[in-house]
Parts: sequence; structure tokens; C-alpha cells
Amino acid sequence: MGFGRGKVILLGEHAVVHGYPAIAVGIDRGVVAEASPGDEDLLILSPWDLDVRPDPAGEPLERAFAIALSGHSKRPPLEVRAEIGLPGGAGLGCSAAIGVAVLQAIDEALGLERSREKLAEAAYEWEKIFHGNPSGIDNTMSAVGGVALFRKGEPLQPLRSNKPLHLVVGYSGQSPSTKEMVSSVARQLESDPVRVNKAFEAIDVLVRNAKLAIEAGDHVALGQLLDLNHTILSSLMLCTTKLDEMCQTARKTGALGAKMTGGGGGGCMIALAPKRDEALRIREILGENAFVTEVGA
Ligand code: PMV
Repeated sequence: MGFGRGKVILLGEHAVVHGYPAIAVGIDRGVVAEASPGDEDLLILSPWDLDVRPDPAGEPLERAFAIALSGHSKRPPLEVRAEIGLPGGAGLGCSAAIGVAVLQAIDEALGLERSREKLAEAAYEWEKIFHGNPSGIDNTMSAVGGVALFRKGEPLQPLRSNKPLHLVVGYSGQSPSTKEMVSSVARQLESDPVRVNKAFEAIDVLVRNAKLAIEAGDHVALGQLLDLNHTILSSLMLCTTKLDEMCQTARKTGALGAKMTGGGGGGCMIALAPKRDEALRIREILGENAFVTEVGA
């Protein structure tokens, strides 16, 4: 069975594309996949009701599946069934989670084994098809999990804490394209490098302080840093009214901090709750598109 986790970025999205660090967590929701010999190479995605055949010149999923199979020459045709437990295009790293789960399922069906790190590397090739210039944070967190500081091109730095993070993840119902949001920031950087680099540098400071807060178990400080990161992402025009409202609701319901997470322009927000009970209350108020996840205990 292959399993690719979803992820949420606690702080540092977008800046991470430009070489700054970010902190992310692997969540317990994700994608499960199983592969077995079949009549032809086929990827079946549920509940999307989608059948994908590998095609190096086809649609993104067809190309990605072709790449996933390409490393294995002598093999039987494989039928891969993937069960997706995450909203797509919501900033939760769904495409990377599919990649990790599918790659691992193929390995298992062929009796191969590779480390989670090698799996993350292979899933980066898959991710590039969907996101153009991904930082690598999604595929790495999907394969490795935990709470970690990530910087493009450097080994993942796991963060230790003696206190679990009680997170509420709320989906705005809008699924923007991460690729477009990343391009929008790149355009802003090109037209106004001073302003955008200042924003990245400010995010960098927040990330470094958040690392210390996580390691010290200081979730009050961490919550404040999340709020500040949200404001900077707003200044880069990545937030929506809906995301702002959801963050406000979470704060009023007892969250220590809240922010958009991932690509923005819709997608998801996260809220940090002091305890599990508060997390459940926030989830209830945010509605059925929200869920609670506990990480880093
Ligand atoms: O929207 P997601 O889950 O794909 O998160 C993207 C995070 C970005 O920093 C915006 C892009 C990246 O490749 O790191």
C-alpha cells in the first residue's frame, strides 16, 4: 500500500519558492494507493471517477503517470488504484500526495524498496508537471511527514517539540491554481523587487522565530507569527475575503492564530488551537469543510 500525506505550510509559502525557509507539517490525511498486475497500465482515481492512461505527451496526469512508470522497463502492465482523501487544488499538497502514493504502490507491486527521501525525490519529477517550478516542499513533506523546516536544495530539518500542534484546516471551497499564484508573485517580484524582497525577508524572520517557538512549545508566540504571516501574504494579494473571514472566525472562537496556507487565492486556511477541545469547537464553527489534525506530539 502506498501512502502520500497531505501537508500544510505553517509559515513561509511563496517565499520558499525564492530560496527562503518555510515550516510545514505532514498531516494524517492523504492518498492511499495500491498497484497490481492488470491488462494495461491504468491509474484509477477515486472519488474523482477518473481513469488515466500514461501518455508522455498528454494531459498532466497522463504525463505524470508515464513518468512514474518510466523507470521500470521489464514489468507487467500495472493497474493502480488511488483513493484521494484531500481536496484537490486546496493548498494541501494533493498532487504531491498522489505522486508519493502512486510511486510507492508501483515500487511495492514490483518488489522494490526505496527510502522515503528517495521517494520524495522521485515525486519531485511528478510535482514539476503540475506546478512548473515547485519548491519541493509538498513532495518532501508528503513522503517524510512530521514538522520540519524546509529550504530548497537543502536537507529537510525536522523540528522537535514536546507539545502537539492542534490545527484546524478550513477549506474555502475555491480551488485556484498554485501555478498561477506562484506566477503572480513572480510577476510582482519582477515589477517591484524592493517591495517583494522586503516581504520575503519579513517572512524569513517570522519563520526563524516560529522554529524557536515550536521547539520551545510556545504556541501563543507561534499563533502571533501565523497572524503576521497572513498579513504579509495579503499584501502580496494572495488572500481572499472568504479566507480572511474564516481566519477572523477562528481567532474569535479561540484560535491562537490563523492564516491562509499554500498557494492562496482560495484554497485553505489553518488555525492553531490551544487544545483539542478548542480545535473541535473552531472546526464546528467553520463548518463541514474543516477538519482537525494533530501533529508533532
Ligand atoms: O498550494 P500548494 O499546496 O501546492 O502549496 C504551494 C506552496 C507554494 O509555496 C506556494 C509553492 C511551492 O512550490 O512551494
